[in-house]
Amino acid sequence: MTAPSLPLVPLPASVTLTDAAPYRPADPDDLHLTVTVDASTGGPESSSLQVTERGIRIMAADPAGAFYARQTLAQLETDGVYPAVEIQDAPRFRYRGVMLDVARHFQPVETVRAYIDHAASLKFNHLHLHLTDDQGWRIALDSRPELTEKASGTSALGDPGGYYAQADWTAILDHAASRHMTVVPEIDVPGHTHAVGVAYPGLVADPVISDHILETAEAFGGGIPTRGFPYTGFAVGFSSLKHDDPAVDAFLADVFGELAAITPGPYLHIGGDECLGTDPADYAAFVEKATAIVAAAGKIPVAWHEAGAVAGIHPSTVGQYWNFVQPQEGQDAPARAFATRGGLILSPADVAYLDMKFDALSPLGLVWAKGVTTLRDAYDWEPTAILDGVGEQQILGIEAPLWSETARDLGDLEQLAFPRIGAIAEIAWSPAAAHDWDSFAARIAGLVPRWRSAGIRIP
Ligand code: ACM
Repeated sequence: MTAPSLPLVPLPASVTLTDAAPYRPADPDDLHLTVTVDASTGGPESSSLQVTERGIRIMAADPAGAFYARQTLAQLETDGVYPAVEIQDAPRFRYRGVMLDVARHFQPVETVRAYIDHAASLKFNHLHLHLTDDQGWRIALDSRPELTEKASGTSALGDPGGYYAQADWTAILDHAASRHMTVVPEIDVPGHTHAVGVAYPGLVADPVISDHILETAEAFGGGIPTRGFPYTGFAVGFSSLKHDDPAVDAFLADVFGELAAITPGPYLHIGGDECLGTDPADYAAFVEKATAIVAAAGKIPVAWHEAGAVAGIHPSTVGQYWNFVQPQEGQDAPARAFATRGGLILSPADVAYLDMKFDALSPLGLVWAKGVTTLRDAYDWEPTAILDGVGEQQILGIEAPLWSETARDLGDLEQLAFPRIGAIAEIAWSPAAAHDWDSFAARIAGLVPRWRSAGIRIP
């Protein structure tokens, strides 16, 4: 018998309720839990979990698989009782990511730790940190101390800023590793670099002031960006590093080289999105240079999908698709170009961007990605149906970004993320054949009171 009524999100690959009596441990702190890790039992991150009236057995292919089986176990428990089940589990996609934008609003280490815990409980295994943007530079680098000394003091909306000292960076990496999560740092170039110009005005071009900048200032405040001065608005696409300047080349080499050295994971994200203020030929030269530096430092470059149009991008580069489920004119070809490079991470903005408003009245969130994104919108999409020529083999995985223009603290992040983060977790982990809205809605409804009683703020 399958068990769709158990509050399991993401749904494991196979769940069978058995006829045995439920397990009622006499001592909740002693579960009679047997955990065996044996690589011959299955693929990466896989496990089996058996609950009988006598106790609990987990057999996992690796420590991550055992960790994910423990997350399933935590969702099974109600009032100290565990239903008798047999569960086989393994992920659909190997990259399951969440992204936090700590540039628009800086988030302290405790907040990042809490978000890691939330995401890991839903079997996400990558944390992408968007560490730099027009509004601030958030990581201390020994090679370029001016970046945090001069360009980290403010956030969007004029709020206070901040940055991660290297000890903070280590604390984030360690906590992520303890939850089987790989950190993917992003330094966004050549656009989204106004903050670089606050530290080094000579490295950036003058902001390109378009109607969008003026309209955004009118709608949200934050003024008009001026080279060399902090920017606290929401506009995008106005900033660019200078092209053909040896000082910029030295900057890229320092920043990506040092970040590669202090990051244990395989990926380093170079951004590359929304470079409306960069000449296309200069943009191509930047993308080639940045991805070559990252690859030479031994890392796999990741870039937002626009960079796929650059013929000379490093061939190992992974693309991150952020246009819509139905690609807009001209957006699918650059994304598809990654199918024969490093593959794709899918983050379609109209379903997977957790910073879109969850209802029209919410003061939190934005609406540019086709308006409000409901829980059902976040759930009802199939990764292989977005880009022709990009199927299961070309998709490395799925990521749910959370941009922080309107999100000031953990409570704001939680209200935007929950419960939609559960929908993205299920798309990333569970078998496509098990996709079923009614089942998902029932299971999420079972989890919401648990999340609330754990202190998570849910709208
Ligand atoms: C993006 O949303 N500009 C990647």
